Amino acid sequence: MTVKRVLTCVAVAATLGVVGSAIADQPFETEIEARQGQFKLLAFNLGPLVGMARGDIEYDAATAQASADNIAAIASLQQDRLWPAGSDSESVSGTRALPEIWEDTDDVMAKFEELRQAALAMQEAAGSGLDGVRGQLRTLGAACSSCHDAYRESQ
Ligand code: HEC
Repeated sequence: MTVKRVLTCVAVAATLGVVGSAIADQPFETEIEARQGQFKLLAFNLGPLVGMARGDIEYDAATAQASADNIAAIASLQQDRLWPAGSDSESVSGTRALPEIWEDTDDVMAKFEELRQAALAMQEAAGSGLDGVRGQLRTLGAACSSCHDAYRESQ
């Protein structure tokens, strides 16, 4: 590719970016979708572990380990850009993030760190038996609920 073609591509991409944000329906739509996306992925990967713990599906070490690996990876994502001030449920529609989040972001991020620690413990335990999954699921589930109880609007 010539230098000129590369520059043209960059220019087109930049223009599309500008147009893309100009036609966004509401402020912070992209950030809100991204943060909800990470939570959807958490829940998606928690599914098999919950199913196995309840006995709804048979324990399978590889599936349990893969789910736990994904949860640990998602819980380790850098959060800064996902929580812009003004993207709370009183300021914009389409989010359940309570304004209290921005009154004490240190506490919210501490809860996210608790989630990460619980996810790492699950990652250690998940591949070596159902007892480990059951044991760690309590801590992991508690990390989800403790943040939801404080900072997520109930439906
Ligand atoms: C540090 C706080 C925190 C932790 C920890 C947390 N959540 Fe959430 N969760 C939220 C907030 C806030 C929202 C609302 C986000 C929004 O609507 O903008 C949310 C939304 C969700 C949603 C709805 C996403 C959507 O479709 O809009 C799901 C599902 C979810 N969380 C699952 C989980 C699971 C599973 C865990 C644990 C493995 C977890 N969350 C841990 C704060 C947290």
